[in-house]
Amino acid sequence: MSNKNISHIKWMKRAIFLASLGKNTTSPNPKVGAVILDKNGNLISEGFHFKAGMPHAEAMAFNNLQKDAKGGSMYVNLEPCCHRGKTPPCVDQVISSGIKKIYISMQDPDERVSGKGIKLLEEAGLKVHLGLCKKESLDLNKDFIHRNITRKSFGVLKWAMSIDGRVGLKNGKSKWITSEESRSLVHSFRAEFDAIIIGGNTLRKDDPILTSRGLKKPEPLRVVFTKSLDLPSKSNLWNCNKAKTIVIYDSSTADESLLKRIPKCVEVAKVSSDNPELISKILADRGCNKVLWECGPRLATAAVKSNCIQEIITFIAPKILGGENSMNPFGDFEYKEIHETVKLTDLEFSLIGDEICVKSELKI
Ligand SMILES: NC(=O)c1ccc[n+]([C@@H]2O[C@H](COP(=O)([O-])OP(=O)(O)OC[C@H]3O[C@@H](n4cnc5c(N)ncnc54)[C@H](OP(=O)(O)O)[C@@H]3O)[C@@H](O)[C@H]2O)c1
Repeated sequence: MSNKNISHIKWMKRAIFLASLGKNTTSPNPKVGAVILDKNGNLISEGFHFKAGMPHAEAMAFNNLQKDAKGGSMYVNLEPCCHRGKTPPCVDQVISSGIKKIYISMQDPDERVSGKGIKLLEEAGLKVHLGLCKKESLDLNKDFIHRNITRKSFGVLKWAMSIDGRVGLKNGKSKWITSEESRSLVHSFRAEFDAIIIGGNTLRKDDPILTSRGLKKPEPLRVVFTKSLDLPSKSNLWNCNKAKTIVIYDSSTADESLLKRIPKCVEVAKVSSDNPELISKILADRGCNKVLWECGPRLATAAVKSNCIQEIITFIAPKILGGENSMNPFGDFEYKEIHETVKLTDLEFSLIGDEICVKSELKI
């Protein structure tokens, strides 16, 4: 590889790193970083997108300019936008800056942009290089890309289990399977998500708080999916000072007279069936790029079957719960052959004290 190519990769990696600084805050927008070099190849500015409604990465980089960008080049991990949203189109700013070359890692999957930004740049005479470090850029924004393509939120399923693969005792007295250290790690994971989903039974049995304990502001939206609406009138999730909560119920099975148990500060929405895909779609429409399913075995199984789960995080604790009085992480998938089963790939292992955290991607 030539020195010139190494240098292009270096600047694109810098743009991707800058983009990653918006990891917990940009949703529903993508994570974007931009780097500007002058005509001699010296760094003259950089920026990243921090939050929806705030300037895009390109605009931040232009705001931070220390020298004229005329004749220079830009590195950006996502195609610059060409539509007016809460902020003006970035393409106009790039063109009027006099920049001559732009390295774009990937096209924007948002149909308002999707290739149109690149076309406008080319028509204005800029030399556009597409595809540098594309794999890294796809990975960085996989949640945003997934939502734009499928109209569903990118789903991560998290559960904790004993070494014999059990997620709790049937009598509900299994708080906690994992250590305090692993549970604090879960709080920090939650900060990466826009919403956290459980089913009605987990609310009844565990009464969880489901916050990042202040690591994300505002906290992720807490979502309860219920078929019955048989929810308690007292619950940690009804404390609206900590975080927002929405109860989504299946109107074909729920007893709507039970709605009166839910306080007014909690949002309520109905769907026409118990298909978890409906939750994923509602959350995607609300701009949730990435959602965490912290539900128990029955909803987890339904969520996997309906393709709502793209990644899995499993905590394994050195405890044995035994079979009779405990629960499997999943219900029945009704497989008849081993080749039909759910496959996990890209496994990452880490040790938290004497517990193991396994991250994996799900391939069906
Ligand atoms: N170890 C772990 O990581 C972990 C995590 C979460 C939960 N748990 C344990 O799991 C137990 C609860 O398990 P669970 O499976 O009943 O979990 P859940 O998270 O409560 O999910 C099941 C509930 O979701 C609602 N639901 C909506 N659509 C559904 C669908 N299509 N299929 C199934 N349910 C749907 C129903 O609520 P309604 O009944 O209100 O209609 C149903 O009872 C608790 O004991 C809890 O402690 C363990």
